Parts: sequence; structure tokens; C-alpha cells
Amino acid sequence: MVKRRTSIHGQWSSRLAFILAATGSAVGLGNIWKFPYITGENGGGAFVLVYLLCIALIGLPVMMAEIMLGRRGRQSPINTMRLLAEEEGKNSFWKYLGWLGMLAGFLILSYYSVIAGWALAYVFRTAAGAFTGATADGVDSIFAQLVADPERLLAWHTIFLVMTMMVVARGVRSGLERAVRFLMPALLGLLLLLVGYAMAQGQFAEGLRFMFKPDFSKLLSGDAVLVAMGHAFFTLSLGMGAIMMYGSYLPAKTSIAKVSIAVAVADTLVALMAGLAIFPIVFAYGLDPAEGAGLIFKTLPIAFGQMPAGTLFGALFFVLLVFAAWSSAISLIEPAVAWLVENHGVSRVYASVWCGLAVWLIGLGTVFSFNAWSGFKVFGMTIFDMLDYLTSNIMLPLGGLFIAIFSAWIMKKASVREELDMRSSGAFDYWYILVRFVTPIGVVLVFLRAINVI
Ligand code: PHE
Repeated sequence: MVKRRTSIHGQWSSRLAFILAATGSAVGLGNIWKFPYITGENGGGAFVLVYLLCIALIGLPVMMAEIMLGRRGRQSPINTMRLLAEEEGKNSFWKYLGWLGMLAGFLILSYYSVIAGWALAYVFRTAAGAFTGATADGVDSIFAQLVADPERLLAWHTIFLVMTMMVVARGVRSGLERAVRFLMPALLGLLLLLVGYAMAQGQFAEGLRFMFKPDFSKLLSGDAVLVAMGHAFFTLSLGMGAIMMYGSYLPAKTSIAKVSIAVAVADTLVALMAGLAIFPIVFAYGLDPAEGAGLIFKTLPIAFGQMPAGTLFGALFFVLLVFAAWSSAISLIEPAVAWLVENHGVSRVYASVWCGLAVWLIGLGTVFSFNAWSGFKVFGMTIFDMLDYLTSNIMLPLGGLFIAIFSAWIMKKASVREELDMRSSGAFDYWYILVRFVTPIGVVLVFLRAINVI
């Protein structure tokens, strides 16, 4: 029995607090902004099906593994991986898994913050009534104007990052824990309202068919499968250490399996609801589901512009989108900040300022990729596209693959079993098979398929 460690950064006050914080990390732009537009780009139903399979067979087991490693190590991912590897008598190069994750966190946050900036801008546009009675074309041009203007994008990016780093600097528990208790239920309520609107006013049946009727001819491009798997990691915040970090603040007795299921189910429901709010409007207004990254910014405002009190609900919706992004952004940078505090003895404030500056600088690439540098493309991708592709489709699955390998091949089974502490040993065995075989083989097959080897 290993001595129970405690984290120098603190601990969640309860199991519920962890669930809310981890759900806050998981539910973000990935669910409401990204899931609908990549579903649209990849033809709908079949893509959704593969995504759901990836959540169940790869995402959920990896989430449990990450929380398990985090709680056992009780440090930032880099130090946790080093410590656990040493403790198991294995090579300490496993710490590089923590480094890979930290890098992914910087890169993701750099563009995440720019997109969250769009949402911030939309709070004010909606509240000012910019969309009242607007046509699809009008809404489209408002979006085009925003992204064409680097100064505005930069200003919103800066504001969002400052908001993020302020919370991280103050420690996760006092600010965040309190905020998510209110925000998550509010977000759910508003999404329900929007789905209700889409049911009443949009082409709901067509939206449903698009999302849930698989057309396999569209799917089987290797890239679509890679995108679905990458998104399963992205949406559950897996493969880069965010959930490992949050796991390191988890009280000792909490059931890892139960909290993981709660978080994965909540995250999936929010994504599906976002799709059900958006596609009926897309079809009702003859818009293109394969529109790309601007999809929600070009569809939902039409609905807000028509519905009674749409100014209010619209503004509220974007406020909540900002909050959802905010609670995710915090978890993207928390591992780096915690690592600086652990290894360099600096204060959280100091660590947050430097991390924030680094992210801000990298974010310039995304800001300009929508305007001044939009012509700069490698493999047909802008800087924003590349950052997104590299992180979601390569770095996170790779991180998840190694997390699975470490948990099920490198660590002693007894240590893993002890930390997971599952009541039913049948459930443990089932999980163990998933992380030992299904996850690694699944990830490798999807990679091979994407590069056309199979
Ligand atoms: N899960 C978040 C979302 O769906 C994004 C995220 C990825 C957060 C990785 C933390 C780590 O928006």
C-alpha cells in the first residue's frame, strides 16, 4: 500500500465539486461550437455514430485511467508521470508524456481563446439587437466583418485570456468551484429552451435525420473517422493532462468509475442537444451544414432575431457559451501553472502571468489566420486549421494512447486496481481489457486508416 499523498495545490471539496469541475472542463466550445460544425462537414449521422462509439470505447476508459493516474501521483502531469514511472521501477522518460500534454494545452488554448473571443463579441452584438429581424445574409455578413478585423479579434482574445488567467491565478477551488455550481445548470436550461425553439420553428425532423441517420458512404473516408476520434478526446478534455490534473485534486474515497460516467454522459448530452438546436435552423433557412467554423455564429442569431425576447435569450446564450469556454480554458492551462509552481517555486500569480503571455503570443497566429494571413496555407490548411488538426487529431489521441499503455502495460495491475478501487471486480476486468487492448488498438487503427495504410 502506497502512502496516500496529498496535493500541494489543494483538493475539491466534494465528489460533486469534482464532477462539476470536470464537466466544466469537458463541456465547452467543443460541444456547442465544434461538434455541430464538424458533424456538418462530415455528413451527419454516420459521423455521430463513430463519435459515440469512440466516447464509449476509448474516451470513457481513458478518462478513468487519467483520473486514476492523477489521483495516485497528486501532482502536475509531468511530475505525476515521472513519479509513478519511478515508483513502478520504470524509465522516467514517461514524464515526456506530461510534456506533450502541456504543449498541447498551450496550443489548444491559443486558438480556443480566439474562438471564445467571438462568443464574447456576440454577447454584445446580440444584446445590442444587431440580429433583430436579421436575414441569413445579414447574420452572415456580421460574422464576416468580425473575423476580417484583426484588431477586434485581438482585443477579445486578450480579454478572454485575462479572464482565464485571473481565475487560474486565484486557485481553482475558490473561484471555479463556486461558479460551475450555478453555470452548468443554467447552460442546460438555455440549451433546452433552444432545442424547444428549434422543434417548434425549425425543420426539426430533418435535423434529427441528419444527425442520427447514418449514411456510411460519406463516413468511411479515413479522415472523418480520425476527426470523430480526435473529437472524442477533445470534448472529454482527454490526452493532455487536464483531467489528470483535476484527478489529482480528487478526494481519496471517490469512485472514479462513477464520476467518469457522469462526466462523459453530461458532455455527450450537451453536444447532442447543441446539434439538435442548430441543424433544424440550418435546414429551415437553407444554410449549408458544411459551413465550417462559423456555423453556430451564423445560425443561432437567426433564431434569436425571430423569437420573442430573442435579444435577451441570445445574449444570455452567448454569455453561457463564454462561461462554458472559460471553465474549459482554465483546465487547459492548469497543468502548466501547477508544474511551474511545483518545480520552480514561483507563486500561482507569477506562473499564470507567464503562461498567459505565452498563450497570447501563440494566439496571434490564429487571429491573423482569419484575415491578414488567410492566404497562408500548408496542405490547404490555415494556421488555425493546422493547430486544430495537430492537437485534436494527433496530439490528444497520441497522449491518450500512451496513457492507456502506461496504465495497462507499464503499471503493476495491483497498483492500478488499488487506486481505482472498484467494487465489482468484473467491472474492473472489463475496464482493464478496454484500456489494455481496445483503446490502443483502436487509436492505432484509426491512425493507420487516416494515412491510408488500411
Ligand atoms: N473539452 C473542452 C471542450 O469540449 C476542450 C478541452 C480540451 C479542454 C482539452 C481541456 C483539455 O471544449
